[in-house]
Amino acid sequence: MKEQLEQIRRDFLTLVKEVRDRTQLEELKNEFLGRKGRLKGAMKEMASLAEEERKLIGAFANEIKEAIEHVYGEEEKKIEREEEATRAEREWIDITEPGSFQKTGHLHPVSQTIAEITDIFARIGFTRVPVPEVDWDYYAFEALNMPKDHPARDDWETFFIDAPEGKKGKIVAIPHISNVQVRAMEELKTPFRALYIGRAYRRQSDTSHLPIHHQFEVLMVDKGVTLCDLKGVIEHFVHSYFGKDRTVRLRPHHFRFTEPSFEIDISCDVCKGSGENNGASCRLCKEGWLELAGAGMTHPNVLKAGGIDPNTYTALAFAFGIERTLMMREGINLDDIRLLYKNDLRFVNQF
Ligand code: PHE
Repeated sequence: MKEQLEQIRRDFLTLVKEVRDRTQLEELKNEFLGRKGRLKGAMKEMASLAEEERKLIGAFANEIKEAIEHVYGEEEKKIEREEEATRAEREWIDITEPGSFQKTGHLHPVSQTIAEITDIFARIGFTRVPVPEVDWDYYAFEALNMPKDHPARDDWETFFIDAPEGKKGKIVAIPHISNVQVRAMEELKTPFRALYIGRAYRRQSDTSHLPIHHQFEVLMVDKGVTLCDLKGVIEHFVHSYFGKDRTVRLRPHHFRFTEPSFEIDISCDVCKGSGENNGASCRLCKEGWLELAGAGMTHPNVLKAGGIDPNTYTALAFAFGIERTLMMREGINLDDIRLLYKNDLRFVNQF
């Protein structure tokens, strides 16, 4: 009997070595310790033994049972540790690895530029004023010293809105944002410094022109505003936006609403103003200068139209095309300026 119990223990110890996982271990436990297990079987046989012997064998059977339970317990712990280790392996995450980010968009390069320009002028006291995108002929042309039928109007290839004519003429999709000049004079208290940014509409669309482009314009009205101030404000902008090493050149020009009038050139960054690059003419500017804006001292007739006495006040004004300005800073000569509005993320995401 004793030998039978020993055999049970030995079998258990051999078989437990082959156990690979929890299920196998449970099966083994059942086979040996279960209600119909081998140990129970052996113990049943004990019933036929004499009292004295039964006690001894009973105690021994208990010993064997405890030994098996002990080994079982050890084995169970071992399996638990293994399971824990594989789970840790399987569920391991590297918390130092860069996370996967939600794709967020960003402002269009033109909107970024507008924000930057607003900031640059805010630093010298210019406040943004709104731009009506359709306006009376009066504000777009007439008040700007361009009487009806004046040929200078043809310089702006204007879209007219199909709407009845009013006291201030026809309605146009503004071809420049200078329509705001007289509106600002009417609405703001003189002296003032106004910045306005908006879309201008012209009948043109080719590789270097957009039917809709953005402009920003400044208008500063005060006593004793001079050409020096004009150049100073332009330089403030150019140095802030393009960098201190860029030079500003005012080239005489003609606008009906400014006198004198200029075109603003800034030195090219690619050829540093020389017009040459490795012996060839500069790919960006060809002559050392980039033409970027129109400027001038506000014509007395315009001040008068805005109810301001030109004998007391003088004013400066200038306007830049924003798409061109932004391209020139990036030093890119787009084959087609319309690329800016093709909504091609491969392009837009470079800014
Ligand atoms: N409005 C002019 C244009 O769009 C530019 C300009 C603005 C010129 C202000 C002088 C003063 O061409």
